[in-house]
Amino acid sequence: MKGTFPTERFKDIQTPFYYYDTDLLRNTLEAIKAETGRHENFIVHYAVKANANPQLLTIIKNAGLGADCVSGGEIEAALAAGFTPSSIVYAGVGKSDWEINLALDKNIFCFNVESVPELEVINNLAASKGKTANVAFRINPNVGAHTHANITTGLAENKFGIAMRDMKDIIAKASKMENVKFIGLHFHIGSQILDMTDFLALCNRINEIQDELENRHIRIENINVGGGLGIDYEHPDRVAIPDFKSYFNTYERHLKLRPGQHVHFELGRSVVAQCGSLITKTLYIKQGATKQFAIVDAGMTDLIRPALYQAYHKIENISSDGPHEEYDIVGPICESSDVFAKQTVLNRTKRGDLLAIRSAGAYGEIMASQYNCRKLPRSYTSDGMRQGTLS
Ligand code: LLP
Repeated sequence: MKGTFPTERFKDIQTPFYYYDTDLLRNTLEAIKAETGRHENFIVHYAVKANANPQLLTIIKNAGLGADCVSGGEIEAALAAGFTPSSIVYAGVGKSDWEINLALDKNIFCFNVESVPELEVINNLAASKGKTANVAFRINPNVGAHTHANITTGLAENKFGIAMRDMKDIIAKASKMENVKFIGLHFHIGSQILDMTDFLALCNRINEIQDELENRHIRIENINVGGGLGIDYEHPDRVAIPDFKSYFNTYERHLKLRPGQHVHFELGRSVVAQCGSLITKTLYIKQGATKQFAIVDAGMTDLIRPALYQAYHKIENISSDGPHEEYDIVGPICESSDVFAKQTVLNRTKRGDLLAIRSAGAYGEIMASQYNCRKLPRSYTSDGMRQGTLS
């Protein structure tokens, strides 16, 4: 056993695989509850897109979180894990008819609607079932987040949401439709946000919007502020649990709530990222012309974040604590972007060593692909390891 990893028990398992520390996940969920528990009107939905592993979903559901889904498949995954339909919100710019029908049949809590044509389709499909669908409008608040360009979503140029200038029109349209009920507004400014002033800017924008709507006698029951709280990729052990206190405090202090209003949060990364690691094996050490490569058996098909966003994930040799050496750590996929880290230092590694690619619980396993006819990575939880079931 090295560090927190049961390396001995990993020895007989085919690599690469995801390993989830379910104790850490439970502690993370406790930390969320500690901050939101005193606010009856704060409702946290887990963003299923971050990781839909059934075992993790069950733990998250048992902690009392709702689910934030972006596809029919995610709604099915959430329901299969036991999330109640009334705890499910459903967002996405391109909802297909079958997905809307599924959500209507299951009586989910709310559709986060992103355009007028979508609102019309939801109204028609609900009418044909004799139902009324709760709808919230996703407003593009034009608030920038200081994060990677590919994961900011709340700027005017992004495809998401309804422009602020069109907000009153869509609310008016909905009020004339028979099979939708306007219940709130939805926002989301981006992901991996560590600067609380970004969330503060969102609060200020929402306050302005509320004042403006109130002048027109429009009341909002639910404010969904989306997700986006980031994690510390550099220090997965030291800062294993994100700063939920500052995050929820920002909303508590700066969002001007009216009596009876509910605030919904959609947290993904901050819930699951730190509890997951991708465990891979060193295959070959190759001396290149200018550098040394450690070629491992995991690739961008198992964890695409470094290739797609140049994302940093800490990598540790969990088989050996020999002297430090510098490597480029690369996978076997036929793409030059199949690199987990460049010029990174770790304990000297040799063929057969296990490496842990840390902070991989969010947007890791769920984004895996089969490019190069690769097998999808398997996953194990620390619970399973303790109980001796390894599948
Ligand atoms: N709500 C909405 C409407 C979203 O679009 C997202 C994430 C979330 C909630 C959850 O955000 P979180 O709390 O996880 O930041 N694949 C990228 C991240 C994409 C995030 C997309 N939307 C990555 O690996 O960094």
